[in-house]
Amino acid sequence: MSTSLDLFRLDNKVALITGAASGLGAAIATALAQAGATVAVHGNRRPADDTAAAINASDSNAKAVAFQSDLSSTTGAEKLFAEVKAKLGRVDILINNAGTILRNEATEVSLEDWQQVLQVNLTSVFQLSQLAARDIISRGAPGPEGQSSGKIVNIASLLSFQGGIRVPAYTASKGGVAQLTKALANEWAPKGIQVNAIAPGYFATTNTEALQADETRNRQILERIPAGRWGAPEDLAGAALYLSSPASNYVTGTILTVDGGWMGR
Ligand SMILES: NC(=O)c1ccc[n+]([C@@H]2O[C@H](COP(=O)([O-])OP(=O)(O)OC[C@H]3O[C@@H](n4cnc5c(N)ncnc54)[C@H](OP(=O)(O)O)[C@@H]3O)[C@@H](O)[C@H]2O)c1
Repeated sequence: MSTSLDLFRLDNKVALITGAASGLGAAIATALAQAGATVAVHGNRRPADDTAAAINASDSNAKAVAFQSDLSSTTGAEKLFAEVKAKLGRVDILINNAGTILRNEATEVSLEDWQQVLQVNLTSVFQLSQLAARDIISRGAPGPEGQSSGKIVNIASLLSFQGGIRVPAYTASKGGVAQLTKALANEWAPKGIQVNAIAPGYFATTNTEALQADETRNRQILERIPAGRWGAPEDLAGAALYLSSPASNYVTGTILTVDGGWMGR
């Protein structure tokens, strides 16, 4: 039986966090490393070297390694996973955080843009989850009661529940992420893999720069958030650590909103 302290430790675990060069992914990677995990931090156009360097400089026991891959390519997930395996040997925890958003009228969205958003936000999530589950399952069944053999945490969105405006591909992809989370949770629970999602509310990152800069939208958003402020990336770290750690071994197929109260309003 774990002590309350062990419940949130990730010693001897390897965690892969996609989209970790900045924003939510960097904050999640930092929290998992502080809990003892070796972290593979993935970047795309912006390399995740700075995130890795900051984590390694923060603690002599910390280990972070940077990787690069374009997940808009159908081969990007496989390339990334193979490189992480070659360098770190295994993946115990997968955080599917990388995501992209393209704003346009539904009548104007090109097929190319639609497919790019779906590939990055949904298809690559499935591809990486499949690769991670195969890797975890290959190491054998989980131990006795309450133990876990692996964790997958998908970063969903409030648009997993709501429709949004002028972001049809993003909404479709994040709705898909929520449903995929449940489908994979059902199949892999007997294998000891917990699959959950986090639906962040409005967080101040590069992803939401346009909204923050739009005075009217910014005011409307703040008026609706009971907490009265945008989330900071660090506000997501506790939920990500919980869903990556033994504390959540009996939690699977859930979508946890971290939104300052938005969805309850
Ligand atoms: N911020 C919010 O309010 C909010 C709310 C709900 C959900 N989310 C979700 O949270 C996740 C993280 O977003 P964020 O807010 O932290 O924004 P961010 O700082 O822009 O992070 C998005 C990450 O995804 C990566 N990415 C984008 N296209 C990619 C591609 N083709 N291949 C590989 N990686 C790619 C980006 O890398 P490059 O920039 O190098 O391409 C970046 O590291 C996303 O899934 C987003 O949808 C955010």
